[in-house]
Amino acid sequence: MITVFGSINLDLVVRAAHLPQPGETVLGGAFAAHPGGKGANQALAARRAGAEVRLIGAVGADSFAAPALALLKDGGVDLSGVRTLSGASTGVALIAVEEATAENQILVASGANAAVQARDLPPLGPQDWLLLQGELDLGETLAAADIARAAGAKVVWNLAPVPPQDLPGDLDARVDLLIVNEGEAEALTGHAPPDAALAAWPGDVVITLGAAGAVARFSGQIIRAPAKRITPVDTTGAGDATVGALLAALSRGVAAPDALRFALAAGSLACLTQGAQPSYATREAIETFAR
Ligand code: ADP
Ligand code: NA
Repeated sequence: MITVFGSINLDLVVRAAHLPQPGETVLGGAFAAHPGGKGANQALAARRAGAEVRLIGAVGADSFAAPALALLKDGGVDLSGVRTLSGASTGVALIAVEEATAENQILVASGANAAVQARDLPPLGPQDWLLLQGELDLGETLAAADIARAAGAKVVWNLAPVPPQDLPGDLDARVDLLIVNEGEAEALTGHAPPDAALAAWPGDVVITLGAAGAVARFSGQIIRAPAKRITPVDTTGAGDATVGALLAALSRGVAAPDALRFALAAGSLACLTQGAQPSYATREAIETFAR
């Protein structure tokens, strides 16, 4: 069983000819609301990739909660650990996208996500995997890691988007596996080349490299895996797809090199369709694409 301790958002997206400057009002074009938040994204990605998944988080008692949770509910993610808080709003990301450049501007109201606490976790044991990201309170996230480790569960942390100066110095001793992208690996270790970053991190780690795939170390073994060659349509949430699928494979006992290949195929597949959650593939589709 995978337990995701993480954020749930509704992404409110407006496309426009240019991004607003301070004080400026821009009349944009089409509007869309998409379920998002890294915790929710990774939970759905892991579920579609074949795992039993429960999500621990919070939403507000407002009209954003249902659309934020809709795909998770349809997909069979256990939402019994998602609390509805009367005093808070559902987490919202206001996203402006410039049509010509696809550049964006994002403003997040954490809302109910800010109230999620480590003590919301259900009892965990040695069979459990706890998946963490960086969009909940950092102290609560660290406390969740410590609780899970003490119970013998495996702790996997996708660091995005925590500033490394905020992280404790003994992070490597508090997680079983760290997952970062290239920029986060550099910020964390001070080394830009992925191999140097890998060498500088003492524990198990996966560094995703976008179109170049990933490099990783599991129990001392260095693994390199290429991404599938594709023409991306929308890379939003591709990292979350990769993380969720990796956990799904590792938690069912797939060996690390095969699990990484499976995860990268899931990440590349997620780039082929618009949006994050709607683009997450089933285990069968990922295995077919990975061949
Ligand atoms: P993040 O989105 O977190 O910054 P990356 O950009 O490293 O993470 O992408 C995560 C994964 O998504 C990659 O390891 C790869 O599997 C897939 N991916 C992302 N961009 C591409 C691309 N242009 N072509 C193929 N696969 C991609
Ligand atoms: Na996508």
